[in-house]
Amino acid sequence: MAQPLIRPLVASDLDKLLEIENQSFAYPNWDRQAFLRYRCLIAEINGEMAGAVVSRQTFAGDSKGPQEVEILNLAVAPQFRRQGIGLALLASELTNDGLYFLEVRESNKAAQALYRKLGFYEVSRRPHYYTNPDEAAIVMQMKKC
Ligand SMILES: CC(C)(COP(=O)(O)OP(=O)(O)OC[C@H]1O[C@@H](n2cnc3c(N)ncnc32)[C@H](O)[C@@H]1OP(=O)(O)O)[C@@H](O)C(=O)NCCC(=O)NCCS
Repeated sequence: MAQPLIRPLVASDLDKLLEIENQSFAYPNWDRQAFLRYRCLIAEINGEMAGAVVSRQTFAGDSKGPQEVEILNLAVAPQFRRQGIGLALLASELTNDGLYFLEVRESNKAAQALYRKLGFYEVSRRPHYYTNPDEAAIVMQMKKC
């Protein structure tokens, strides 16, 4: 397994990050501003960008419940896949206690397997959630405490 360096995104990463998005999604719909708006962590192997994860806190947590975080985007460059980079990125994201959510295409078995490995499980389905092509989303959740 590769041991990536995980660090926050800086503006000069954006060109390479958009390249990885283009390699990872048939219809990428994230622009530069979107990556800068949220929390984005980059994985590097020997100085080369290998992947990224983006998240946002949707609830800060209070006396009644823990923080809630949504994983918004995850992509690993094709040449770095199956080396533990996705796992390492998500593990860096899941360090604090809280409820973590994400949506994933029904057909995306690779990502679902990765999420299950980290303790995510299906809580619901949203029909027609995605376009290009039309597809349902599986909503997954994981509680870290
Ligand atoms: C999904 C994705 C992020 C996985 O990244 P990765 O770095 O290759 O994942 P890892 O190497 O950390 O894999 C960890 C585990 O996830 C599962 N997994 C990952 N890719 C898999 C695949 N293609 N098929 C089956 N299981 C897979 C395996 O259990 C794997 O452990 P193993 O290699 O010991 O069997 C990557 O394939 C990708 O960028 N895909 C395109 C974009 C995408 O689908 N993003 C998610 C949107 S919700």
